[in-house]
Amino acid sequence: MIFGRVKPLDAILATAEKKSLHRSLGPVQLTLLGVGAIIGTGIFVLTASAAQYAGPGMMVSFIIAGFVCAVAALCYSELSSMVPVSGSAYTYTYAVMGELLAWMVGWALILEYAVAASAVSVGWSGYFVGLLDSSLGIVIPSDFANGPDAGGIVNIPALVIALLVTWLLLIGTRESAAVNAVLVAIKVVALTAFIALSFPMLDGAKFDPFMPTGVGGVLTGAAVIFFAYVGFDAVSTAAEETKNPQRNVPIGLIGSLGICTIFYLLVAAGAIGAYGAQPVQSLSGEFLISGSPELAERCKAIIASGAGEPLACSNEALAHVLRAIGFEWFGNLIGLAAFLALPSVILIMLFGQTRIFFVMSRDGLLPEKLSAVHPKWKTPYIVTMITGVFVAIAAAFFPVGRLAEVSNSGTLFAFFMVSIAVLMLRKIDPARHRPFRTPAVWIIAPLSVVGCVGLYLSLPLEAMLVLPIWGGIGLVVYFLYGHRRSNIARGIIDVHEDDVDAPPQPVPPMPDAHTPGYKDA
Ligand code: ALA
Repeated sequence: MIFGRVKPLDAILATAEKKSLHRSLGPVQLTLLGVGAIIGTGIFVLTASAAQYAGPGMMVSFIIAGFVCAVAALCYSELSSMVPVSGSAYTYTYAVMGELLAWMVGWALILEYAVAASAVSVGWSGYFVGLLDSSLGIVIPSDFANGPDAGGIVNIPALVIALLVTWLLLIGTRESAAVNAVLVAIKVVALTAFIALSFPMLDGAKFDPFMPTGVGGVLTGAAVIFFAYVGFDAVSTAAEETKNPQRNVPIGLIGSLGICTIFYLLVAAGAIGAYGAQPVQSLSGEFLISGSPELAERCKAIIASGAGEPLACSNEALAHVLRAIGFEWFGNLIGLAAFLALPSVILIMLFGQTRIFFVMSRDGLLPEKLSAVHPKWKTPYIVTMITGVFVAIAAAFFPVGRLAEVSNSGTLFAFFMVSIAVLMLRKIDPARHRPFRTPAVWIIAPLSVVGCVGLYLSLPLEAMLVLPIWGGIGLVVYFLYGHRRSNIARGIIDVHEDDVDAPPQPVPPMPDAHTPGYKDA
């Protein structure tokens, strides 16, 4: 029975026990960590996509997406405090549901992390291009600043930033706490300035109609804007370095999600009320799909007609709103904030992706060569280069909304599996020490499961279809390679230092059916 191929939790935990990190993080640092990883392209750029799907009702979309993330975050925390090693949802699933499902989660996490890195690269490109134009008068032709679906040929700035961040990662750059604190401050100041400038200009009439696309549109908006909250797992994965994790991890998670939700709602209200956020319709009155060539065409026509550029058409939503309501300079400053802060979100996402690949190849599910560590840089350079090239290519050719939607489908699958895993582990292994326990788990975890499924089913059809197709490809790859080559298949239970600086070296205590904790078909 293939589902019986479980990687024993004790083998995983032996990894964690080998290194004892200093418990130094308190609730404030954890919250800052979360806010740093969360605020990015979602609010700065995808506000435009949310407006296209939901109109002013995007405010409700932000609340729904924030709620689903909060319940998923509480489930994530229990597992990450029990299994505080890298690989996140993939590792948890390996311990609880076995190799095949773990592989599927790891495969889906490629969508989450790598595609998110592409999405944020495209988001950054929109701000970079706008900033160059409005502050220095340098115009990058639209053909070379947008992918084909967005009315261009290739998005060169997005390609370049993705490769640049890959290079930083290759040579071993990690974001320090100090840099994170500065970037969080920049983002928070930028969003606060946006709220302060837009609120005095609120016009109640701009909220009407509030839900032009109905409840369905609001749900699709939620499924898309979900991207704005992704990244909070940075808090869960720091559980091991946290003082009193039982108290501080939920404070950090719910605190950072809560702060971001409040900011997002206020920013959305400012954009809607000061500028307007009604969706763009075709000439025959249909609501167009965000990121589609039809929307790009219609936007071009509206702008050419001399009417103001609708929010849903903008590549730099927040800067555009400020410029349009008369704060040209502040618009540029918001652009500068996004220009400075978004690359760190790309770095976090790419780093997450290389870590997942690294752990999967260490487990034998991907070729071991992939996890080779560079002698000088001490980074998993092969996997980093491959990831970076794919991320850059996707960023060059796809629009930000599409990429974010595809990323969300993978993330929702991972959160769904984690929410089930937390319940299974409560049943299978109730006595195990849990530094953090999800409160009211039999309510919270099912809510998370339902929320993830609901948001997934609300995604635009194309993004929804990507997950099963990607999953199908994953299954083929698994049965062609990992099924026979994985460490468990070959009878190796490995215990590793959780550190890419230490080259992976399988410790092969050949287990057999009598080895405690070892299970196989
Ligand atoms: N939440 C992150 C962002 O919005 C991924 O960029």
